[in-house]
Amino acid sequence: MPKNLGRTPPMGWNSWNTFTWNINEELVMQAADEMVASGLKDCGYEYIVIDDCWSKKERDENGRLVADPEKFPHGMKYLADYIHSKGLKFGMYSCSGTHTCAAYPASFEHEFVDANTFAEWGVDFLKYDYCFKPKGIPGELLYKRMGMALRNCGRDILFSACNWGQDDVYSWIKETGAQMFRSTGDIQDSWNSIVNLAKSQFGRQSQQGVYCWNDIDMLVVGMHGGSNNDFIGDGGFGCTDTEYKTHFSLWAMMNSPLMIGCDIRSMTDATKEILMNKDVIAINQDPEGRGAYVLDSSGWDNGQVKILIKPLENGDYAIGLFNFGDKFGSRASFPFWDMGLPSSAGYGFEMYDCWKHETIGTFAERFTADVEAHDCLIMRAKLVKL
Ligand code: GLA
Repeated sequence: MPKNLGRTPPMGWNSWNTFTWNINEELVMQAADEMVASGLKDCGYEYIVIDDCWSKKERDENGRLVADPEKFPHGMKYLADYIHSKGLKFGMYSCSGTHTCAAYPASFEHEFVDANTFAEWGVDFLKYDYCFKPKGIPGELLYKRMGMALRNCGRDILFSACNWGQDDVYSWIKETGAQMFRSTGDIQDSWNSIVNLAKSQFGRQSQQGVYCWNDIDMLVVGMHGGSNNDFIGDGGFGCTDTEYKTHFSLWAMMNSPLMIGCDIRSMTDATKEILMNKDVIAINQDPEGRGAYVLDSSGWDNGQVKILIKPLENGDYAIGLFNFGDKFGSRASFPFWDMGLPSSAGYGFEMYDCWKHETIGTFAERFTADVEAHDCLIMRAKLVKL
């Protein structure tokens, strides 16, 4: 079986943001159906992940986790088989502490038996949380335990660590074998949350890369306040489609896994256009996985516009101009000198706009554009002789 787990940022759908505790077999099967029918699968989304609240409150007499028979009457193997029959992969959830965050049984001191159970069920992905961690045990060790168990359970299971960026996770997470790691607290369906999470990871991009991605949390694109959890729904207003576009562009540029959190059975056309933007996804999935760096753009509207640059495998550069300010139409401009291109070299950049899906021109020395409030411009820049 080919390994290569986490060679590029994982892509999929997770039940938590919209449905939290209210999950069941039918919903998950419908999500799998829709993943294929909507075209999401063709864009690279492959994992269908069940988050917290899937099990019974007690383990069985052999110390094994048991799926809640009311929510999942045919059990997890049945669901895994169904998801696999659609050409998709199946993800589940547990926690490094004694209980999950919603107080269901978790894997502390059951790491090896649980990894084997997940393997028997046909699980391909495990999100592993950080609640109810016993005091005095380093989290690092708990992730190393589950990492070891998963790597030896007889099945390729992608390890998605979720310790919210605590305990200097950046310095040890690669040692655990995790292919992705949550670096932030939980996202909310609000513009402020999106901005705060993204900015908290600026400057951290060199600490992630192929086989171990910085996960800024699941996407809220297309939720429009539709969560049955008040914290995530944040008042039920949600964001504008422009804000969702900027959110998706940020996560893509910053190499975050792209885990959809909305109800994919009822996506609007705007939501589909965002989640299925193949030009933006290609930046996220670039085989080299280099992190984006932030150009110092202070001076442009008091630093409200931030510019991210990500070198791509074929020599192109992904360039993102993000207007975090509320002011209508901020001018953003930067000299190519700041990216490493002196004008004396005789080159410029041919810019392809990844949201308009067209080449917008060739530019010498600098690029200048107006970016609306909360909007962004994502370009693929090709070096060309002038
Ligand atoms: C934590 C995680 C969330 C989600 C919930 C489930 O808060 O960060 O992503 O998994 O637990 O209870």
